[in-house]
Amino acid sequence: MTDLEQIVSDAEAAVAATADAAELDRVRVQYLGKKGELTAQLKTLGKLAAEDRPKAGAEINAAKGKVQALIDARQQQLDADAIEAKLEAEAVDVTLPGRNAERGGLHPFTLSMRRIVRFFNSAGYEVVEGPEIEDDYHNFEALNLPAHHPARAMHDTFYFNPNLLLRTHTSPVQVRTMEQRKPPFRIICPGRVYRVDTPDPSHLPMFNQVEGLLIDRETNFAELKGTVVDFLRAFYENASLEVRFRPSYFPFTEPSAEIDVQCVLCLGDGCRTCGQSGWLEVGGAGMVHPKVLEYSGIDPEEFTGFAFGMGPDRMALIRYGVEDLRSFVENDLRFLRQFN
Ligand code: PHE
Repeated sequence: MTDLEQIVSDAEAAVAATADAAELDRVRVQYLGKKGELTAQLKTLGKLAAEDRPKAGAEINAAKGKVQALIDARQQQLDADAIEAKLEAEAVDVTLPGRNAERGGLHPFTLSMRRIVRFFNSAGYEVVEGPEIEDDYHNFEALNLPAHHPARAMHDTFYFNPNLLLRTHTSPVQVRTMEQRKPPFRIICPGRVYRVDTPDPSHLPMFNQVEGLLIDRETNFAELKGTVVDFLRAFYENASLEVRFRPSYFPFTEPSAEIDVQCVLCLGDGCRTCGQSGWLEVGGAGMVHPKVLEYSGIDPEEFTGFAFGMGPDRMALIRYGVEDLRSFVENDLRFLRQFN
């Protein structure tokens, strides 16, 4: 029986000396395997007297149990060590400075749009949006542009079918708002609009507009002009910027005007960008036509209104002195990064 104790203590030393699972398995085979040292002990039982066998058998089994427990404990230790080593090898120093992640910026059209909206918000205008897919009624008819009206030719319209189209301006949002709300109110409607146009330095088939509409018991053309001039001077950060209203025609306003600003590149002297005129067109405006009010259920005897529509894309082009609108949509990062 001293033999057994010796075997167990040898096994303990052997287990403790193992460095990995493979070595540990060899030790297991050496002691507990079919031909292992403790298994061999069991085979000697036959040589004992019958009455001694149960006790000897129990002792051998107890010894096997001890060795198995030692092996299990060592296995757990080895597993834990392996995890520890892996964690250490794969450690990430979260305090290291990161690789410079590039931050994107807003597109100049978006910046321009936001500047416009911010100004009018501060003047009490509420932002209203409408659908880009419009019906003929809201885009034309209710704006005093019945079928076959010659002014429809000014809008090169993308049609889905005779009744459904991509809106050619943000003015249909005026109509939708007048249908739904009771005046007085003042709103601003930013959004995308579409016209069949081949892209060139000053045209894109998809562009942005910002519509403004004020309906009240008393408004007048002077208030319209003052609003637009204040806005343009704020937008271009030039308190003495020249703005002019040029008589024009829109079916939905009367009287109507086109809005020009002094060319910011040549300051009025005449250059290529302004076609030598010294002026750049940024939008249209006018007093809401009584028929347009009537169409949407507002009594023109009680209310008057003014409206304006501006092109934030062109306004951005002018503000940044860019020569070709197409540069804004070519997605050349070297160009776009300048506006971050
Ligand atoms: N809707 C007009 C256009 O797109 C602009 C405009 C808006 C003119 C409001 C007058 C009043 O050309």
